[in-house]
Amino acid sequence: MTAVGIDAIEIWTGNLKLDLPGTFAPEKGEDPEKYTKGLGLNASSFPDSYEDIVTMGANAAHRLMDRKGLEPNDIGRIDVATESAFDNSKPVSTYVAGCLEQVYDGDFHHANKGERKFACIAGTQSLDDAYNWIRAGRNRGRGALVIATDTALYARGDAGEATQGAGAVAMYIAEDPDLVELSAEQGYGSADETDFLKPNQQFPSVDGKRSVQVYLARMREALEDYETAAGDVHPDDFAFAPFHTPFPGMVRKAALLAYRHVIRDTTIEDELADEIGRQPRPEGFDTDDDYRDALREYMDALKDTEQYREWYAETIDPTLSISREVGNWYTGSVHVARASVLKAALEEGRDLAGETLLVGSYGSGAQAEIHAETVRDGWEDEIEALNVDDQLADRYDMSWEDYEEVHDVHNHEMDVDVEEFTAPESEFVFDGWGRMGERKYRYVE
Ligand code: HMG
Repeated sequence: MTAVGIDAIEIWTGNLKLDLPGTFAPEKGEDPEKYTKGLGLNASSFPDSYEDIVTMGANAAHRLMDRKGLEPNDIGRIDVATESAFDNSKPVSTYVAGCLEQVYDGDFHHANKGERKFACIAGTQSLDDAYNWIRAGRNRGRGALVIATDTALYARGDAGEATQGAGAVAMYIAEDPDLVELSAEQGYGSADETDFLKPNQQFPSVDGKRSVQVYLARMREALEDYETAAGDVHPDDFAFAPFHTPFPGMVRKAALLAYRHVIRDTTIEDELADEIGRQPRPEGFDTDDDYRDALREYMDALKDTEQYREWYAETIDPTLSISREVGNWYTGSVHVARASVLKAALEEGRDLAGETLLVGSYGSGAQAEIHAETVRDGWEDEIEALNVDDQLADRYDMSWEDYEEVHDVHNHEMDVDVEEFTAPESEFVFDGWGRMGERKYRYVE
């Protein structure tokens, strides 16, 4: 069977930056280490006044198409995953196609376009849709453009304000891919939850502490479900595990839970038994509370073992390096984690071809998905081509006053005009409103 997966990936960050320990923490009267050590974040990316989900998505897609030498005729689908859409009818993918048609000779009239919504997991769902379309043989040799794009802004004063971010990830899904092959096996953990939602409002209603618990519960279910399809997972089965990263501290919690699960009934659990005992099993306890207390104690001890620390440093920590500098990109976040870890592996000179990634996606509301990906021979060239370090370094570093203005500019309830902080170059920009309330865009050379 021909491999199907991600052939190429491009990242586009918002052109502004908010320094969390340096600018945000002092204004909030908080210890900077709450951000750097607690949440694990140094900065958030923000859109300048001429940027939005369309410009960032179209810019990432344009870079990807140029680099891969793709023409509109090579693309049979454009799926945009976002939870920052501004229209309940016309999908963002039509705007993105309109932008790209300004710079390519052909058009996308033949391409099936859509918009996927399920909080942050919609980016991965769009990958799955593209995979299924190709596997079903409906693609006529074409590939799918999947774009995950969000301006993840919270209301001013919300606890989530520290975890904001803005950016887009474009991916080309095709047969015989250069980057990773997607597994046919998937596991799901999905339930009707009200941890984070936007009932026809721009900024989310969030129960932050509960959202953390829901993330962990759904992720555990998804891992168990994945095992029913793919067999038990052992730590030796995968090189890295990129997770949805609303902030790196969240992944720290998820990783500990995942490690406990995958070492259960293995020689690793046996080796650790002398130091911290065996994992508690429910049948050994009279009440659920006793079992949960024992579990908590075991996890605390596990976290401090050399085995866990080493595994975390090698398998999880390298997935967080870009996220630390950009915050939460919602639908793009898990795809940023994949890019981070491949970039780290390239910088270390590691030969990854043929190795497996265990990918954990999550969206509030809520659903988690686990699947595996096999790294392909062409991965090094693909990752080498990313210019994410330059993009991050080039962002304009906002003062507190700048931040307040920029937040207002992107607040749909407010009508404020602000000079742009950066000069757009070789990119699509927002160009005002049309007569039916549509947004207009133009390409700046
Ligand atoms: P908070 O109340 O501001 O922070 O809310 P906190 O007091 O819980 O502190 C955060 C961490 O920093 C804690 O670590 C503190 O101990 C530590 P923990 O105990 O949890 O390991 N800390 C410090 N560490 C070192 N030095 C210090 C210090 N001070 C504190 N001085 C919260 C945090 C995450 C709730 C908030 O930011 C929030 O509401 N965020 C938005 C919701 C969110 O991101 N949830 C994540 C799971 S849900 C999800 O991922 C889906 C999502 O992406 C949306 C979607 O799917 O569409 C959000």
